[in-house]
Amino acid sequence: MAHFLVTGGCGFIGSHLCDRLLERGHGVRVLDDLSTGSEANLDPRCRLTVGDVADPATVGQAMEGVSGCFHLAASASVQRSIEDWLGSHRANLTGTVVVFDAARRARGGPVPVVYASSAAVYGDGGDRPLSEGAPLRPLTAYGADKLGCELHGRVAWLVHRIPTVGLRFFNVFGPRQDPRSPYSGVISIFADRLLSGKALTVYGDGGQTRDFVYVADVVDHLLAAMADPVREPRVVNVCTGRATTILALAEITGRIVGIRPEIDGRPPRTGDIRTSLGDPSLAKVRLAVSAGTGLAEGLRRTIEHTGMQARRHEKKAAPVETGAAGIQT
Ligand code: NAD
Ligand code: UD1
Repeated sequence: MAHFLVTGGCGFIGSHLCDRLLERGHGVRVLDDLSTGSEANLDPRCRLTVGDVADPATVGQAMEGVSGCFHLAASASVQRSIEDWLGSHRANLTGTVVVFDAARRARGGPVPVVYASSAAVYGDGGDRPLSEGAPLRPLTAYGADKLGCELHGRVAWLVHRIPTVGLRFFNVFGPRQDPRSPYSGVISIFADRLLSGKALTVYGDGGQTRDFVYVADVVDHLLAAMADPVREPRVVNVCTGRATTILALAEITGRIVGIRPEIDGRPPRTGDIRTSLGDPSLAKVRLAVSAGTGLAEGLRRTIEHTGMQARRHEKKAAPVETGAAGIQT
């Protein structure tokens, strides 16, 4: 049994990782500022510190005594990085440097760090699957900061001998991705809107593609990266090698819900990547993992969870019935 620090553990991907670490018998400490995550996502056996990942004292304390750190805390929205450049930069790049610095200062030697990078480092990919050696041309501050994380991850090893692995997640989906925020991932938004009988907003012509990867498969990659004994800075794609257009996604999701989706077309988003498709070969070779959950199967699980959440909200919101004398029944 080991103890791990998970930054961003109250978020979508982080909370799934925490569950799996607990299942394996590990101790879990979480650092999260609850800006987009929620304590309700977190198993109560995890020890939660509510705080900012860009604050060195907070992160230094959280890092003490752990065998490894999974660094997932970030502002995950590409759009928000356009609106709030500095705020996003502070959480995403400064936060990561603070984590690396705390990892090097920890008593008992540098703590290995597995951190979330992103497919956004590639920018527009073209039609061929992107392998890790492809040109890096981020289109947004979010992508530029994730690329900065990778550069600092390299320096963390070269200068301070901190073992680091950066995982370039493509578009992750699954239960617990918050559907109610306009900054959330497209699948959670589509599932939620279809279940409540609303039209789907599609930005641009809907022909843009994404490589959608199911959250449980992402957790497999995170655990494999932490277990990897090779000590060198490494960056690996987390993807399926299959591209889906946003219009096709709308149609498949509609079919599973049993509704023909109504599409509300909007102008394209600034900085929106046209094609994003990853090559998963390196993960197979280096980490011995692959993302095996198909899109339809992952969507079914996500929709089932979204439906359950919606019913829970409705129950909570239902007015208390009162009898004739105004007494609650
Ligand atoms: P999320 O928003 O659900 O989780 C992020 C968590 O970090 C939240 O719990 C949030 O409260 C916390 N957080 C944000 N800023 C913080 C700060 N300054 N201090 C402490 N905690 C902070 O998002 P997610 O989808 O679970 O993303 C997790 C990681 O994976 C992020 O680094 C994101 O950039 C990266 N990523 C996500 C995707 C995706 O498709 N979801 C793809 C590529 C990369
Ligand atoms: C997502 C992640 C980001 C990650 C990146 C990696 C989120 C919120 N963002 O960004 O953290 O680094 O993948 O590839 O998880 N769209 C619609 N209608 C909607 C919502 C979105 O048409 O209601 C379109 C967008 O314009 C975009 C596509 O769907 O073309 C995907 O959007 P989104 O889910 O926000 O993800 P990315 O911007 O790709």
